[in-house]
Amino acid sequence: MASPAQFFDPFFVAKPKLGKFAKSAPGRTAHLVKTEHGDTVQPITLQRTDELPIKGQGTIAVRSSAQNVLHFAIISDLAGGPSLHLEIGPRDILLFYEDAAGRNKIDYIDLKSRDASFLNIAAETTYWLSVDSNNGWLRYGKHFTNKTMTLIEATLKHKDQEGVMVWNDVEKYRWLETVKTIEVTQDKGNILSPVVSPVPIVMDLPPFVRTSDQITLSDIENGFFTAPINLPDACQKLYGNIAGAKIVLNDDDFPNFSDAIQHSCITPGCWAFEKLQEKANAGELGHDLAGTYLRITLGYNQGDSPGIPYVLEIWPASHHSPIHDHGDACAVIKVLHGAITCTWYESLETTAWIGQPATLSEGQITWISPEQYQIHKLQNDTATVCCTIQCYRYMKTDNVHYDGFNWRDDNGKSQKFVPNSDTTFTDFRNIMKAEWTATLSRNGTMEVS
Ligand SMILES: [Fe+2]
Repeated sequence: MASPAQFFDPFFVAKPKLGKFAKSAPGRTAHLVKTEHGDTVQPITLQRTDELPIKGQGTIAVRSSAQNVLHFAIISDLAGGPSLHLEIGPRDILLFYEDAAGRNKIDYIDLKSRDASFLNIAAETTYWLSVDSNNGWLRYGKHFTNKTMTLIEATLKHKDQEGVMVWNDVEKYRWLETVKTIEVTQDKGNILSPVVSPVPIVMDLPPFVRTSDQITLSDIENGFFTAPINLPDACQKLYGNIAGAKIVLNDDDFPNFSDAIQHSCITPGCWAFEKLQEKANAGELGHDLAGTYLRITLGYNQGDSPGIPYVLEIWPASHHSPIHDHGDACAVIKVLHGAITCTWYESLETTAWIGQPATLSEGQITWISPEQYQIHKLQNDTATVCCTIQCYRYMKTDNVHYDGFNWRDDNGKSQKFVPNSDTTFTDFRNIMKAEWTATLSRNGTMEVS
């Protein structure tokens, strides 16, 4: 069984080749506008402000289609206090603070390719800045607000001999504990309305879940697995429905259910084989047969998920999904039979991976939220069929209920897929049972792979 550790370990599999980031089109390089008094700092006058709910920490995210410059400013509530600035341009990025002495560059490291940090002038994009004065981290990223999406990071604290986090230069950075007021502007000074979270980006939950009676101290220490209680509410509900020991494919009534599915997928004239051909011909997700899978639905759309919330998905050997999102919904996926390889992506616009692809085997569970692991590709790299149960639910805070999944086509364009049903679970099970019984009676024994 492949280990979820491969998600975290860049040496577990060959280093992925990152997709090419779109080259920035020519444009004005972001720069610090010199004051008319040279280096003399002028008092900062904000036109419209938002605030961090808790001084010195939080995450500020905006959707922006800036073409020239996007500017985050966070100002200390000390009288005449310093201010933190992040300027993002098409070919440059600047992180600095201003105080009475002037502008001061803040050293940071690039966590991804340098040009990934620049403005995406081709499309409206989410940009975020996280301030964490407890740990001394300033982080900037794009797309989803989680640690794996961090593009640059400044580390301004270290542990002292007593194990306490202290500023690298207390005189220089301590004021960051007092930053409060926010202004985000783009291009010629247009004010943007940010979404402000009271907590900074610190650590991400791993994509793998273990029940509270399975998770170990080592799992917590290594961060390879999380307990379901740590998941967003919507994921916890989904998890509670499908994690149970009785949520399995093969049972006493039909112990060869998975064998019957495998047989059906590879045998011309059988239901699954013909349905897969039909889907490829229809071009629902392109015309590649290997890009098809079966969606067997359970129950009804109750208005809180994209499509019917519970779906048994059938992945024949070597078949795969496209790179796709999940309509900003939460999801939980459990492998019922075989193994599936999951690759997570930063966005539909690039093919850059998050972490490493990981293979989930029978019984293993992974999860998705609007901000974490939202975009993935599933691929069955084994020689036999894989079956997964997938379930979906919108967050309580979701007032949009986008009714589809967006997927990336072969030309890199985003397409919408409205979740559908190839048949119901009851009908599917009956068909598989009938096919299996008929074939057994013909052959006496079965070869299923
Ligand atoms: Fe998916």
